[in-house]
Amino acid sequence: MTIERLQKMVLASDNQGKLAEFGRLLSPLGFEVQSQGFYQVAPCDEPFETFVENALHKARHASAATGLPALADDSGLCVAALNGAPGVYSARYAGNSGGAHLTKDQRNCAKLLADLNGASNRQAYFYCVLVFVRHAHDPQPIVVDGFWQGQVAEQLTGAGGFGYDACFFVPEHGLTAAQLSDEQKNLLSHRGQAARALIARLSVQKTG
Ligand code: IMP
Repeated sequence: MTIERLQKMVLASDNQGKLAEFGRLLSPLGFEVQSQGFYQVAPCDEPFETFVENALHKARHASAATGLPALADDSGLCVAALNGAPGVYSARYAGNSGGAHLTKDQRNCAKLLADLNGASNRQAYFYCVLVFVRHAHDPQPIVVDGFWQGQVAEQLTGAGGFGYDACFFVPEHGLTAAQLSDEQKNLLSHRGQAARALIARLSVQKTG
């Protein structure tokens, strides 16, 4: 099996940060990555209860709409004391509760801290799955994932990152993810680990 001829790739996301990150990682392998928005592809829904099903659904959708190989990711924060919540619902955990003056990330973090108020078990991990399909009906999608173990902090700290970074405490650094540099976060994070696993898989297939 070879993917030698497949140089263009569509990212099933319109997140410019992810586009830049995956573009940098995949260009040495000869891939030119564009977001689905670049190809006028509207985002699809994420109806499933597992990360991998949502990522596969997004990848197939982007590939079907463009005729290109596609990469999708799905990620979230899983908290032990909440039986794995917010999990696949991380992006929309708080809904609109908490006030329209707050950003979505601020509402989600505020709800998480409130839900864990007084909890002694603050163990949590970030999870990321990446799915790559060569075409919309690819029977052998490449699926890789990564975990990042940490704790839910008692309060928000740090101005970097996004999402739950300001309430994700990284014990080995004594800092929240929002206080780490981009390079430090990439070395440790669920997404960084999954991305490196994907590179390894694609590299094997490029030369295989
Ligand atoms: P998605 O992968 O863009 O669907 O992200 C799902 C949600 O999980 C995001 O909206 C964030 O709330 C959260 N999340 C995923 N990865 C991270 C991260 O690296 N830091 C902070 N929050 C994250």
